Amino acid sequence: MANIIEIMKAHSSVRKFTDEVIPDKKIREFIEAGRAAGNWKNFQSYSVIIVKSIETKNAIYEAHNSISTKAVMSCSHFIVFVGDMNRAEKAVKLNGGDFQPAGVESILISSIDAALAAENVLLAAEADGFGGVMMGLLREKSVEISDILGLPDYTYPLFGIALGVPAKINPVKPRLPYETMVFNEKYVEQDESVIRAYDEVQSDYAGTRRLGSSWSSRIVEQWGKPEERSSTENLKAKKLL
Ligand SMILES: Cc1cc2nc3c(=O)[nH]c(=O)nc-3n(C[C@H](O)[C@H](O)[C@H](O)COP(=O)(O)O)c2cc1C
Repeated sequence: MANIIEIMKAHSSVRKFTDEVIPDKKIREFIEAGRAAGNWKNFQSYSVIIVKSIETKNAIYEAHNSISTKAVMSCSHFIVFVGDMNRAEKAVKLNGGDFQPAGVESILISSIDAALAAENVLLAAEADGFGGVMMGLLREKSVEISDILGLPDYTYPLFGIALGVPAKINPVKPRLPYETMVFNEKYVEQDESVIRAYDEVQSDYAGTRRLGSSWSSRIVEQWGKPEERSSTENLKAKKLL
Protein backbone atom coordinates (compact mmCIF):
# COMPACT_ATOMS: atom_id res chain seq x y z
CA MET A 1 0.00 0.00 0.00
CA ALA A 2 1.26 3.46 -0.89
CA ASN A 3 2.37 5.73 1.90
CA ILE A 4 -0.69 7.30 3.57
CA ILE A 5 0.65 10.85 3.15
CA GLU A 6 1.13 10.27 -0.58
CA ILE A 7 -2.47 9.01 -0.83
CA MET A 8 -3.77 12.08 1.00
CA LYS A 9 -1.80 14.49 -1.17
CA ALA A 10 -2.88 12.72 -4.38
CA HIS A 11 -6.57 13.37 -3.64
CA SER A 12 -8.75 14.85 -6.33
CA SER A 13 -12.53 14.63 -6.48
CA VAL A 14 -13.92 12.17 -9.01
CA ARG A 15 -17.28 13.02 -10.59
CA LYS A 16 -17.33 10.56 -13.52
CA PHE A 17 -17.53 6.83 -12.92
CA THR A 18 -17.53 3.61 -14.90
CA ASP A 19 -20.50 1.23 -14.54
CA GLU A 20 -18.50 -1.01 -12.23
CA VAL A 21 -20.11 -1.63 -8.84
CA ILE A 22 -17.95 -1.61 -5.71
CA PRO A 23 -18.54 -4.84 -3.71
CA ASP A 24 -20.66 -4.16 -0.59
CA LYS A 25 -17.96 -5.79 1.52
CA LYS A 26 -15.51 -3.10 0.46
CA ILE A 27 -18.01 -0.34 1.15
CA ARG A 28 -18.43 -1.74 4.64
CA GLU A 29 -14.67 -1.80 5.11
CA PHE A 30 -14.34 1.85 4.02
CA ILE A 31 -17.12 2.88 6.39
CA GLU A 32 -15.54 0.91 9.26
CA ALA A 33 -12.33 2.85 8.56
CA GLY A 34 -14.35 6.06 8.64
CA ARG A 35 -15.97 5.15 11.93
CA ALA A 36 -12.54 4.77 13.50
CA ALA A 37 -12.15 8.57 13.39
CA GLY A 38 -12.14 10.47 16.64
CA ASN A 39 -15.44 12.04 17.61
CA TRP A 40 -16.82 14.34 20.31
CA LYS A 41 -16.76 12.50 23.71
CA ASN A 42 -17.29 9.25 21.79
CA PHE A 43 -20.96 10.23 21.33
CA GLN A 44 -20.70 9.39 17.60
CA SER A 45 -23.34 11.95 16.72
CA TYR A 46 -23.85 10.96 13.11
CA SER A 47 -25.32 8.15 11.03
CA VAL A 48 -24.53 6.88 7.58
CA ILE A 49 -27.07 5.87 4.94
CA ILE A 50 -25.81 3.72 2.08
CA VAL A 51 -27.75 4.42 -1.10
CA LYS A 52 -27.30 2.06 -4.00
CA SER A 53 -30.79 1.50 -5.42
CA ILE A 54 -31.59 3.34 -8.61
CA GLU A 55 -34.92 4.44 -7.07
CA THR A 56 -33.35 6.31 -4.18
CA LYS A 57 -30.53 7.72 -6.32
CA ASN A 58 -33.13 8.92 -8.78
CA ALA A 59 -35.23 10.53 -6.05
CA ILE A 60 -32.17 12.38 -4.73
CA TYR A 61 -31.17 13.48 -8.22
CA GLU A 62 -34.71 14.54 -9.09
CA ALA A 63 -34.99 16.64 -5.91
CA HIS A 64 -32.20 18.81 -7.34
CA ASN A 65 -32.52 18.10 -11.03
CA SER A 66 -29.22 19.83 -11.69
CA ILE A 67 -25.95 18.94 -13.34
CA SER A 68 -24.21 19.36 -10.00
CA THR A 69 -25.79 16.21 -8.60
CA LYS A 70 -25.25 14.06 -11.70
CA ALA A 71 -22.57 12.02 -9.94
CA VAL A 72 -25.31 10.57 -7.69
CA MET A 73 -26.71 8.75 -10.72
CA SER A 74 -23.44 7.42 -12.10
CA CYS A 75 -21.71 6.41 -8.87
CA SER A 76 -21.66 2.89 -7.49
CA HIS A 77 -22.73 3.85 -3.95
CA PHE A 78 -23.90 7.16 -2.56
CA ILE A 79 -23.01 7.32 1.12
CA VAL A 80 -25.06 9.96 2.93
CA PHE A 81 -23.81 11.41 6.22
CA VAL A 82 -26.50 12.47 8.63
CA GLY A 83 -25.98 14.68 11.69
CA ASP A 84 -27.67 12.62 14.38
CA MET A 85 -28.87 13.70 17.83
CA ASN A 86 -31.67 11.10 17.78
CA ARG A 87 -29.72 8.53 19.78
CA ALA A 88 -28.76 11.30 22.22
CA GLU A 89 -32.46 11.89 22.86
CA LYS A 90 -32.88 8.20 23.77
CA ALA A 91 -29.85 8.38 26.08
CA VAL A 92 -31.10 11.48 27.85
CA LYS A 93 -34.56 9.92 28.27
CA LEU A 94 -33.04 6.68 29.55
CA ASN A 95 -31.33 8.68 32.27
CA GLY A 96 -34.43 10.71 33.10
CA GLY A 97 -32.91 13.93 31.74
CA ASP A 98 -34.46 16.86 29.93
CA PHE A 99 -33.30 16.73 26.30
CA GLN A 100 -32.23 20.18 25.03
CA PRO A 101 -30.37 19.73 21.76
CA ALA A 102 -31.38 22.96 20.01
CA GLY A 103 -28.54 25.29 19.15
CA VAL A 104 -25.30 25.81 17.30
CA GLU A 105 -23.15 23.56 19.47
CA SER A 106 -25.12 20.36 18.67
CA ILE A 107 -24.88 21.18 14.99
CA LEU A 108 -21.13 21.78 15.21
CA ILE A 109 -20.54 18.59 17.20
CA SER A 110 -22.51 16.37 14.85
CA SER A 111 -21.21 18.05 11.67
CA ILE A 112 -17.58 17.78 12.75
CA ASP A 113 -17.97 14.14 13.81
CA ALA A 114 -19.53 13.29 10.46
CA ALA A 115 -16.96 15.23 8.44
CA LEU A 116 -14.02 13.50 10.10
CA ALA A 117 -15.54 10.07 9.52
CA ALA A 118 -16.44 10.91 5.93
CA GLU A 119 -12.95 12.07 5.05
CA ASN A 120 -11.63 8.76 6.37
CA VAL A 121 -14.17 6.86 4.24
CA LEU A 122 -13.09 8.70 1.10
CA LEU A 123 -9.39 8.23 1.85
CA ALA A 124 -9.91 4.51 2.50
CA ALA A 125 -11.67 4.19 -0.85
CA GLU A 126 -8.95 6.18 -2.61
CA ALA A 127 -6.26 4.02 -1.00
CA ASP A 128 -8.00 1.01 -2.55
CA GLY A 129 -8.05 2.56 -6.04
CA PHE A 130 -11.60 3.94 -6.04
CA GLY A 131 -12.63 7.57 -6.26
CA GLY A 132 -15.38 9.89 -5.21
CA VAL A 133 -16.71 13.30 -4.44
CA MET A 134 -18.46 14.73 -1.44
CA MET A 135 -21.78 16.36 -2.28
CA GLY A 136 -22.98 19.04 0.09
CA LEU A 137 -25.34 20.53 -2.47
CA LEU A 138 -27.82 18.03 -1.02
CA ARG A 139 -28.52 20.61 1.63
CA GLU A 140 -30.13 22.95 -0.88
CA LYS A 141 -32.98 20.43 -0.66
CA SER A 142 -32.58 19.40 2.98
CA VAL A 143 -36.31 19.04 3.57
CA GLU A 144 -36.86 16.84 0.51
CA ILE A 145 -33.73 14.75 1.19
CA SER A 146 -34.87 14.21 4.79
CA ASP A 147 -38.19 12.86 3.46
CA ILE A 148 -36.54 10.62 0.88
CA LEU A 149 -34.22 9.10 3.51
CA GLY A 150 -36.89 8.92 6.21
CA LEU A 151 -34.93 11.06 8.67
CA PRO A 152 -36.63 11.38 12.08
CA ASP A 153 -36.53 14.25 14.59
CA TYR A 154 -33.07 15.39 15.71
CA THR A 155 -31.39 14.30 12.47
CA TYR A 156 -30.41 16.21 9.33
CA PRO A 157 -28.61 15.49 6.05
CA LEU A 158 -25.08 16.90 5.75
CA PHE A 159 -23.60 15.61 2.51
CA GLY A 160 -23.11 12.41 0.57
CA ILE A 161 -20.06 10.79 -0.92
CA ALA A 162 -20.51 9.50 -4.46
CA LEU A 163 -18.10 6.56 -4.67
CA GLY A 164 -17.16 4.44 -7.64
CA VAL A 165 -14.52 3.38 -10.12
CA PRO A 166 -13.10 6.56 -11.68
CA ALA A 167 -13.80 7.06 -15.39
CA LYS A 168 -11.86 10.30 -15.32
CA ILE A 169 -9.29 11.52 -12.84
CA ASN A 170 -8.59 15.24 -12.62
CA PRO A 171 -5.12 16.51 -11.74
CA VAL A 172 -4.62 17.48 -8.11
CA LYS A 173 -6.14 20.92 -7.53
CA PRO A 174 -3.66 23.48 -6.19
CA ARG A 175 -4.50 24.84 -2.75
CA LEU A 176 -3.97 28.40 -1.54
CA PRO A 177 -0.29 29.10 -0.86
CA TYR A 178 0.70 27.60 2.51
CA GLU A 179 1.77 30.96 4.00
CA THR A 180 -1.59 32.58 3.23
CA MET A 181 -3.51 30.20 5.45
CA VAL A 182 -1.05 28.67 7.89
CA PHE A 183 0.37 31.06 10.49
CA ASN A 184 2.74 30.88 13.40
CA GLU A 185 1.40 31.80 16.82
CA LYS A 186 -1.08 34.45 15.62
CA TYR A 187 -3.53 34.98 12.79
CA VAL A 188 -2.25 37.10 9.89
CA GLU A 189 -5.01 38.84 7.93
CA GLN A 190 -4.43 38.70 4.17
CA ASP A 191 -5.20 41.37 1.59
CA GLU A 192 -6.94 41.18 -1.78
CA SER A 193 -3.71 40.40 -3.63
CA VAL A 194 -3.94 36.86 -2.26
CA ILE A 195 -7.39 36.46 -3.76
CA ARG A 196 -6.30 37.91 -7.09
CA ALA A 197 -3.26 35.67 -7.27
CA TYR A 198 -5.26 32.55 -6.44
CA ASP A 199 -7.88 33.40 -9.07
CA GLU A 200 -5.00 33.18 -11.56
CA VAL A 201 -3.78 29.87 -10.14
CA GLN A 202 -7.29 28.45 -10.37
CA SER A 203 -7.89 29.58 -13.94
CA ASP A 204 -4.50 28.15 -14.98
CA TYR A 205 -5.45 24.88 -13.30
CA ALA A 206 -8.87 24.74 -14.96
CA GLY A 207 -7.22 25.29 -18.36
CA THR A 208 -9.53 24.10 -21.06
CA ARG A 209 -11.97 22.70 -18.51
CA ARG A 210 -14.84 25.14 -18.57
CA LEU A 211 -15.72 26.45 -15.14
CA GLY A 212 -17.31 29.63 -16.44
CA SER A 213 -16.30 31.81 -13.52
CA SER A 214 -13.31 32.71 -11.36
CA TRP A 215 -12.66 31.22 -7.92
CA SER A 216 -13.55 34.45 -6.15
CA SER A 217 -16.70 34.98 -8.20
CA ARG A 218 -17.86 31.55 -7.07
CA ILE A 219 -17.40 32.82 -3.52
CA VAL A 220 -19.73 35.70 -4.43
CA GLU A 221 -22.30 33.18 -5.68
CA GLN A 222 -22.12 31.53 -2.25
CA TRP A 223 -21.82 34.50 0.13
CA GLY A 224 -22.87 37.54 -1.89
CA LYS A 225 -26.53 36.85 -1.13
CA PRO A 226 -28.65 35.55 1.74
CA GLU A 227 -28.07 31.88 2.49
CA GLU A 228 -30.21 29.05 1.13
CA ARG A 229 -33.04 28.50 3.62
CA SER A 230 -33.53 24.75 3.25
CA SER A 231 -31.06 23.66 5.96
CA THR A 232 -32.40 26.17 8.47
CA GLU A 233 -36.01 25.15 7.75
CA ASN A 234 -35.13 21.51 8.06
CA LEU A 235 -33.12 21.98 11.28
CA LYS A 236 -36.10 23.81 12.77
CA ALA A 237 -38.46 21.04 11.65
CA LYS A 238 -36.16 18.45 13.22
CA LYS A 239 -36.10 20.42 16.52
CA LEU A 240 -32.42 21.25 16.31
CA LEU A 241 -32.78 25.03 15.94
C1 LIG B 1 -18.29 18.93 2.48
C2 LIG B 1 -18.05 18.99 1.00
C3 LIG B 1 -19.12 19.13 0.13
C4 LIG B 1 -18.92 19.16 -1.25
N1 LIG B 1 -20.00 19.27 -2.07
C5 LIG B 1 -19.83 19.19 -3.41
C6 LIG B 1 -20.96 19.18 -4.27
O1 LIG B 1 -22.10 19.25 -3.83
N2 LIG B 1 -20.75 19.07 -5.61
C7 LIG B 1 -19.49 18.95 -6.12
O2 LIG B 1 -19.35 18.83 -7.34
N3 LIG B 1 -18.40 18.95 -5.33
C8 LIG B 1 -18.54 19.05 -3.98
N4 LIG B 1 -17.45 19.00 -3.15
C9 LIG B 1 -16.12 18.82 -3.73
C10 LIG B 1 -15.33 20.11 -3.71
O3 LIG B 1 -15.80 20.98 -4.70
C11 LIG B 1 -13.85 19.77 -3.90
O4 LIG B 1 -13.40 18.99 -2.82
C12 LIG B 1 -13.00 21.04 -3.99
O5 LIG B 1 -13.30 21.78 -5.13
C13 LIG B 1 -11.50 20.68 -4.03
O6 LIG B 1 -11.26 19.87 -5.16
P1 LIG B 1 -10.62 18.43 -4.99
O7 LIG B 1 -11.46 17.64 -4.02
O8 LIG B 1 -10.61 17.81 -6.34
O9 LIG B 1 -9.24 18.63 -4.46
C14 LIG B 1 -17.61 19.02 -1.77
C15 LIG B 1 -16.54 18.88 -0.89
C16 LIG B 1 -16.75 18.86 0.46
C17 LIG B 1 -15.56 18.69 1.40
